[in-house]
Amino acid sequence: MEKGLTSVKALVLAGGSGTRLRPITHTSAKQLVPVAGKPVLFYGLEAIAAAGITELGMVVGDTQAEIEAAVGDGSAFGLQVTYLRQEAPLGLAHGVLIARDFLGDDDFVMYLGDNFIVGGITDLVARFTRERPAAQIMLTEVGDPRQFGVAELDGAGRVVGLEEKPARPKSDLALVGVYLFSPAVHAAVAELKPSWRGELEITDAIQWLIEEGLRVESSVITGYWKDTGNVTDMLEVNRLVLESVEPRVSGHVDAASDLVGRVVVEPGAVVERSRVVGPAIIGGGARIRDSYVGPFTSIGASCTITGSEIEYSIVLPRASIAGVGRIESSLIGHDVEVTPAPHTPRAHRLVLGDHSKVQISS
Ligand code: G1P
Repeated sequence: MEKGLTSVKALVLAGGSGTRLRPITHTSAKQLVPVAGKPVLFYGLEAIAAAGITELGMVVGDTQAEIEAAVGDGSAFGLQVTYLRQEAPLGLAHGVLIARDFLGDDDFVMYLGDNFIVGGITDLVARFTRERPAAQIMLTEVGDPRQFGVAELDGAGRVVGLEEKPARPKSDLALVGVYLFSPAVHAAVAELKPSWRGELEITDAIQWLIEEGLRVESSVITGYWKDTGNVTDMLEVNRLVLESVEPRVSGHVDAASDLVGRVVVEPGAVVERSRVVGPAIIGGGARIRDSYVGPFTSIGASCTITGSEIEYSIVLPRASIAGVGRIESSLIGHDVEVTPAPHTPRAHRLVLGDHSKVQISS
């Protein structure tokens, strides 16, 4: 490890209300939605630890108790976690503001807890500690830059300007939710006024550094990343992670069942008279009976799937799906029950939480 690397701290933002993932986020922090059986946030914590960072500040909001229950003191990741309470979701730069004492005058990596970056951040942290710009950002090409912070580069690849969610983007290069900062950012954050959405924007803070003539470096990442703030992206990230899962059967698979390709069956899970085509994960204690589980599916712990078909989906712990034909491209919450209507008249009988979304094909 390079000298000085360990003085870099991490600031992980795990607040926010996750409106785009409702209704899952009515009861659950968006950063804890599992991807291939593991909360999205844990991939970020592992990447931070792998970069040689140990001191981590976790900015939390209303879902503090749940995040704390999952992450604890961070020792499971080789991290020391300090929780920093953000009373309201007032923006990413507000997270930096409330972390001022924790950060001191150290360099830090800011990591958005719902972002997923393939390939980790070790090389980026090493480059930052070598070159020590005021800030270092990551960019990636996106289809609709209006949903992101957008960077404008000059011919030499230097960042000349940044705009948050512009109506007329100057490029298709979006800011990825991992930023490296020197303590120069604190002066920038102190100058900010709330944006049109009422938030202190980290994008504006970096723009301020540029206008002050300070050095802001960028790298365009070609590796895959997603802001996992919506269902389509969650299912895509789940697919991507499952693609590299190592097959393992720790539960029980009966002789009448068939596992094809990369399939993980966690301890205590039971697969009976079923066909599981990977990549797929069957969580601990789950029961799969007389069913088909297709590619890119993560079945959570203690779920029950009976007489059903499911593919390209995430099912959270303890849900049960029985006798309902084929389910695709779905995110199913904790303790949900999906069953066929038991008697005539033929009708859909639904008990759906606020903000639920249902597509019925009959
Ligand atoms: C935030 C940032 C934006 C960045 C995005 C990456 O957006 O403001 O600049 O591109 O994260 O995930 P938000 O998730 O707050 O809409």
